[in-house]
Amino acid sequence: MKVLLTGATGYIGRRLKEKLLEEENIQLRLFVRNKRKVREKYKDQLEIYEGDTFHVESLQKALEGIDVAYYLVHSMGAKGDFKELDRLSAENFLDACIRAKVKRIIYLGGLGEKQTASRHLLSRIETGEILSSKPEFIQTIWFRAGIIIGSGSASFEIIRNLVQKLPFIITPRWVHTKTQPISVSDVLEYLSQAKDLETNETLVVDIGSEQMSFKEMLIKASNVMGLKRRLFAVPFLSPKLSSYWLILMTPVPYRIAKALVEGLKSETIIQNENAKKYFLSVYPISYEKAISKAIYEIEKNQVLSRWCDSSAQEECDIRGQEIIESAVLKMKIINDFGQTPPEKVFASVLSIGGQQGWFKYNWLWKITGSIDKLIGGPGKHRSRRDLYDLRIGDSLDFWKVVDLIKGKRLLLVGQVKLPGKAWLEFSMEGTALILTASFLPKGLWGRFYWSFTKPLHRIVFSDIAKGIIQKAKSLA
Ligand SMILES: NC(=O)c1ccc[n+]([C@@H]2O[C@H](COP(=O)([O-])OP(=O)(O)OC[C@H]3O[C@@H](n4cnc5c(N)ncnc54)[C@H](OP(=O)(O)O)[C@@H]3O)[C@@H](O)[C@H]2O)c1
Repeated sequence: MKVLLTGATGYIGRRLKEKLLEEENIQLRLFVRNKRKVREKYKDQLEIYEGDTFHVESLQKALEGIDVAYYLVHSMGAKGDFKELDRLSAENFLDACIRAKVKRIIYLGGLGEKQTASRHLLSRIETGEILSSKPEFIQTIWFRAGIIIGSGSASFEIIRNLVQKLPFIITPRWVHTKTQPISVSDVLEYLSQAKDLETNETLVVDIGSEQMSFKEMLIKASNVMGLKRRLFAVPFLSPKLSSYWLILMTPVPYRIAKALVEGLKSETIIQNENAKKYFLSVYPISYEKAISKAIYEIEKNQVLSRWCDSSAQEECDIRGQEIIESAVLKMKIINDFGQTPPEKVFASVLSIGGQQGWFKYNWLWKITGSIDKLIGGPGKHRSRRDLYDLRIGDSLDFWKVVDLIKGKRLLLVGQVKLPGKAWLEFSMEGTALILTASFLPKGLWGRFYWSFTKPLHRIVFSDIAKGIIQKAKSLA
């Protein structure tokens, strides 16, 4: 079976890729917008086609010879009308699949009813309707899931952060709305089994575990985490205020917070029994188990994907950000690491930031992160996916990895709100570790900012370089 996976650099897609690679009887092809986001190690195991669902030619090429095509794409964070873009993207995909004689489309959307759905959910429903609109030409299996619980999922990160940080959680009135969360591992099981399903019918399959309110979700999560939390529902928390509250307390940006808050106002519960009827061997785990599993994965450093992996949000987008030639201001710090093995130095470079900190002045990084959050930036909450490993597209506090050449170069782009664009580059030449800070100022204010902060940055970056070498020595 030849399988095409779209959205392979996103939260669900990255995990589904791993699951599909475990199967011997399939040939996997990825359709991605940016090849650099797929690691070298996969290049022998699968085919990679670069393209975009808005570029029909690239899509058509990727679909040649494909039996089953997964559609895990959405345009939520794109500039412009995301509903319109989602519609066009789904129409292009459906038509291209029919032309390529694909046998089955598998799509994952959201639970909810059209009458009460938020704009985001409505777009997911419309996408499902488009993809299922030509059953006489192509079969579609349309999964609908509510809140997905897994390490790194936006919903889980919101719940985890609220519960961990606040002894008293103030919530809007509509936290009583019913929903049916599901563990990401169950979602993957359904998606993977769907390619082998023996039916020619076009189906809508609603998936989820037990019904509960968002309030119950927070209480149950606090029980699993061993924290006693009390919730107070107040009438004055409007959707807008609630969204602002979420962006201050959790790593997610405004758009995700708003989509989630708006989604909470209407019920998202299962409306058909197709999951039980067609997927007899899948028994969704309980919400509590899903939370424990997600926490376990974080503790064991096994997070495969995170909500900010795709370019769906402005805060997560890395397209074109690796081009640093435009930076007119630069600062270079060169340190010799002598006899220390270079691979240990690079391993030390790859472990900076996040939970492990930036060697010195961590308080300064925290203050910068807090100020950035207050003025609408990503802040430091995103931390890092893995304690030791980085890959292109990973978030690292308020940075994003935009280039990574093993043993040679790590390039980060700053996403903190600044009067200009900043990059931080770690490179190795012989026995020298070179740290280069580059800046493209926005007008006079940007130049003033660079000159004013340069002496402080020189001290901070020098100490980072020293810290990296020190750590490499201890690793050696
Ligand atoms: N995550 C959840 O909690 C959740 C819950 C319920 C339902 N779902 C559904 O599951 C599906 C996947 O969601 P997700 O969370 O995995 O999304 P995601 O992390 O935002 O990933 C979206 C993926 O789509 C790709 N993409 C976006 N526009 C594209 C285009 N025009 N052409 C080609 N690729 C494009 C992105 O590529 P780049 O990396 O280049 O940006 C990325 O790989 C969605 O339909 C969503 O509604 C998700």
